Amino acid sequence: MSFDPNDHAPTEAKMTEKLEDIARAMVAPGKGILAADESSGTIKKRFDKINLASTEDSRRDYREMLFRSTDAMKNYVSGVILYDETIRQKAKDGTPLVDIMKAAGSIPGIKVDTGAKPLAGPTSKIETVTEGLDGLRERLAEYHALGARFAKWRGVITIADGLPSWNCIKANAHGLARYAALCQEAGIVPIVEPEVLMDGAYCTHDIDECYRVTEWTLRTVFRELYDARVSLEGMIVKPNMIVAGQKCAKQPSAAEVAEKTVRVLKSTVPSTVPGIAFLSGGQSDEVATEHLSLMNAMGNLPWALTFSYGRALQAAALQAWGGKSENVAAGQRAFTHRAKMNSLAALGKWDAKQEKAA
Ligand code: 13P
Repeated sequence: MSFDPNDHAPTEAKMTEKLEDIARAMVAPGKGILAADESSGTIKKRFDKINLASTEDSRRDYREMLFRSTDAMKNYVSGVILYDETIRQKAKDGTPLVDIMKAAGSIPGIKVDTGAKPLAGPTSKIETVTEGLDGLRERLAEYHALGARFAKWRGVITIADGLPSWNCIKANAHGLARYAALCQEAGIVPIVEPEVLMDGAYCTHDIDECYRVTEWTLRTVFRELYDARVSLEGMIVKPNMIVAGQKCAKQPSAAEVAEKTVRVLKSTVPSTVPGIAFLSGGQSDEVATEHLSLMNAMGNLPWALTFSYGRALQAAALQAWGGKSENVAAGQRAFTHRAKMNSLAALGKWDAKQEKAA
């Protein structure tokens, strides 16, 4: 039988089945993902805010505190996105951090992109393309052996005067699709994350501009995923919500964010995708929770809608911990509280009163 490169028959059934199971577990009812994959540069910025030096040990202590929050990890967190250093790291007592999270029933994941780099061409001062495809097949095989069952790759889209360019959207969407296909080949569920930024140097755009650019981006991403024959059943999308830029004078209500986000997702994300796990992107903790809850409360959604927050899950815990061993319990309480609030939001059952009650 000859091979037809334009045949879009699904990839090997056995592998797809397994990927589907992992993907469904990642978005199980009331559960979401902890993004703890800050690169060394990003975690340094977070630690600077609590006047803590970023060292291998301080990064380990911080993440060990989170992963040993057993109640949160068992009941609210389906999986954790790790950074290369962390997936290899051992807790203070010598237990691999991966084993700690697995013991709590949480799936280890790994960030595999190597960062957003200036996109060569006339917009290189503003636009980026995410890199990391070189050697990715081999890295994925190693990460699988280290226990990772899902991965993340983040493409970044910036709205500015006359931007994004089509070139930027196309390059990032293509990279995401090539990454996703390599993940599935390795038995790893890809989290496909095209982020239209709400913060940063520009970000004066209003909510409707965010809607327009996000729709364009998601449509392009799904076209590329189709061309790369990525199995939609075996992946998770991690989009931004439809919000106004942080510097926009006209900020929308939570109800408008929820309504427009669900609308754009219904018109771009096929219902065979098992789940959508949002990034928080610079929203404050409670706002990110409220938005998610309002969307789930609408009901009648074709996919699971949950969280894959970094800042909105960690900010309070980092503050409460402050880099001090005597504050580990306080840090864990703060983390568990946010995880629980977001779990309620993933069920559409959060309200502000529960923030106080906890
Ligand atoms: P934030 O929730 O802080 O945006 O981080 C999520 C993430 O994984 C970004 O890539």
